[in-house]
Amino acid sequence: MTGPVSRASVRAFYTDAIQRGRNTAENLQAATSERFNTLLESIAEATPRVALDLGYGAGTYAIALARAGFRVVAVDQIPCDPLLRRLNGAGDWAHRIEPRQCLAEDFTIDQKFGVIVAKDVLHYLARPSVEALLTSAVAHAGGGNYHYLEVFTAITRRSADGQLLRIEGEAGYTPESFRRDIERIYKDWDLTLFWSKHAEQDSRTGLNCFEAIRATVIAANRTA
Ligand SMILES: C[S@@+](CC[C@H](N)C(=O)[O-])C[C@H]1O[C@@H](n2cnc3c(N)ncnc32)[C@H](O)[C@@H]1O
Repeated sequence: MTGPVSRASVRAFYTDAIQRGRNTAENLQAATSERFNTLLESIAEATPRVALDLGYGAGTYAIALARAGFRVVAVDQIPCDPLLRRLNGAGDWAHRIEPRQCLAEDFTIDQKFGVIVAKDVLHYLARPSVEALLTSAVAHAGGGNYHYLEVFTAITRRSADGQLLRIEGEAGYTPESFRRDIERIYKDWDLTLFWSKHAEQDSRTGLNCFEAIRATVIAANRTA
């Protein structure tokens, strides 16, 4: 295995891909998932109409939340201008989205978000940072708040020449370690976990460049 890929080069990759609207192997321009759509449709009136999208990427989840009537704080490490351009003149819901350029682990959760989304981002953070972030989100949550997380575990990444790659500081969860952490953090919440195999192909070689087991977490705070 070669040395780790730096966090700076991950940020540069996403900055470039999102600026150019490139649809990478991971399908950054994909629509929201069916599971997320079902959750969004099921959310009761009593849930506060304010949401947080961590690692918003092209902004698809933040936009779905804003269209559903939520005010959305959208956080990503990349500059905000691609999302601001996408929102410009998009509709009367667009003003509800507030993009912020910030690392997810540096974002301070100091309010009750009715919905928090973190899709395909938390695996990039160090494990203690994921724990601190979610613990703080749970501590600030009220009744009827939801967390929707999609997190890659058991990741194998390969360069075009087949070398195994890892990313500096990434969580490196196994399905078991992730489940253990989530069950501890969300111990008083209704928790639903789904697991699915995931693979992405390198378009030049046709070989898998990324394989993982994706955990989808839907956590609902039923406490008053
Ligand atoms: C695979 S994309 C997912 C985008 C979006 N959530 C989606 O599912 O369509 C990962 C995103 O997380 C962002 N990201 C990665 N590490 C981050 C961190 N530590 N803090 C904030 N954003 C981060 C990247 O810049 C990128 O936009």
